[in-house]
Amino acid sequence: MSLELLTEEKSGQTARLDLIDMIPDLQRALIGEQATLRNMTWSPVNLVTLQAINRFKVAQHVPIDGSISYKELSALCSVNESQLRRLIRHAMTNRIFCEPEKDQVMHTAASKLLVEDPRMDAWVFFLTDYFWPATARSVDAFQKWPGSQNPKEVGVSLQYGRDTTWFAEIARADRGIESFRQAMEIVNDGEGWQDSYLVDNYPWGEINNGVVVDIGGSNGHTSVAIAGACPKLQFVVQDLHTEGNHLPELLKTRIKFINHDMLTSQPIKNADVYLFRAVLHNHPDTIVVKALQSLIPALKPNSKIIIQDFGLTDPGQGRLADESYERMMDIMMMSLMNGKERGLEEWKALFEQADPRFAWNGGTRPDGSRLWIIESTWEP
Ligand SMILES: C[S@@+](CC[C@H](N)C(=O)[O-])C[C@H]1O[C@@H](n2cnc3c(N)ncnc32)[C@H](O)[C@@H]1O
Repeated sequence: MSLELLTEEKSGQTARLDLIDMIPDLQRALIGEQATLRNMTWSPVNLVTLQAINRFKVAQHVPIDGSISYKELSALCSVNESQLRRLIRHAMTNRIFCEPEKDQVMHTAASKLLVEDPRMDAWVFFLTDYFWPATARSVDAFQKWPGSQNPKEVGVSLQYGRDTTWFAEIARADRGIESFRQAMEIVNDGEGWQDSYLVDNYPWGEINNGVVVDIGGSNGHTSVAIAGACPKLQFVVQDLHTEGNHLPELLKTRIKFINHDMLTSQPIKNADVYLFRAVLHNHPDTIVVKALQSLIPALKPNSKIIIQDFGLTDPGQGRLADESYERMMDIMMMSLMNGKERGLEEWKALFEQADPRFAWNGGTRPDGSRLWIIESTWEP
């Protein structure tokens, strides 16, 4: 099992990452270019089976221990037995469920995750019901609105046949915005996404008992992590909707939530740090510039603006798996909201465009982190 290959030891980690980078080329060499391309075009079939499993709550109806017949399962899920068997047998080729004896369905580690981790269930729901159909119209949108900087000029609007945005549709989803937040936690659980990279690689101690404004901070998980390590810092977590968020009892006096649209004037004046974590890559350049300019009335000399977000590696310069992840994210951002992933030079240019008083301090990507830590100082 791959998880057994996870190791704390540096040389073990490097070997594992080297192997991961070899797999696509090994596969290509073994099956040939034509089959490689064909497999790529067939990849939506995986989403058909995942969507079916999610919608019919198949994983929830398979006993955690033991097995169940297709007949019983189809009755519990209210799905035609023959279709269910075909869908599940395809999923099994991805090691989601297994058939220990003919016509009996049993969980695998992957299918159990869909039951035991509600965040995973929410993730599959949003990706198959909202992301996949919208991206099917992305190229139509690129043709209709070339080079658009408008978050409404995307496949999402074409899919629904009206001007809309990805976030508006997500907020309207049956499962609601809280479920979307849960789904997003799956990303933050991923390798290289942990808050610890920001906690450990920024000199928070130098801010002493200052104030950090966590803009687009969602459920506040980043502030919670920093607060845990820096007992004197105070935090304000801002997002469009912050209702329903919960904090550990001990942190309630140090972390506040407020609803705030980052494209309007920043209400928290003279904070030491204004942090955007994985927020600005959701937005086109014009909106990033506006978000930075909206800070200006609140800034004091030496206020820091920290962006923890993607950087783009130059083609072929990093590990294949890392570059592939960055570029996948870039296309996802462009498809859903005309957002983008940016290289350091692009981040720097956006600060310059917003105001020359934003001094550029550069950025670093901590070893193992997917996200860069980029900093600017307000020097009026
Ligand atoms: C990808 S999530 C990142 C959340 C969090 N910072 C994290 O790292 O997990 C982007 C967040 O930006 C918020 N957002 C989008 N537009 C915003 C706006 N105009 N003002 C404030 N927050 C916004 C979204 O609601 C969402 O919570």
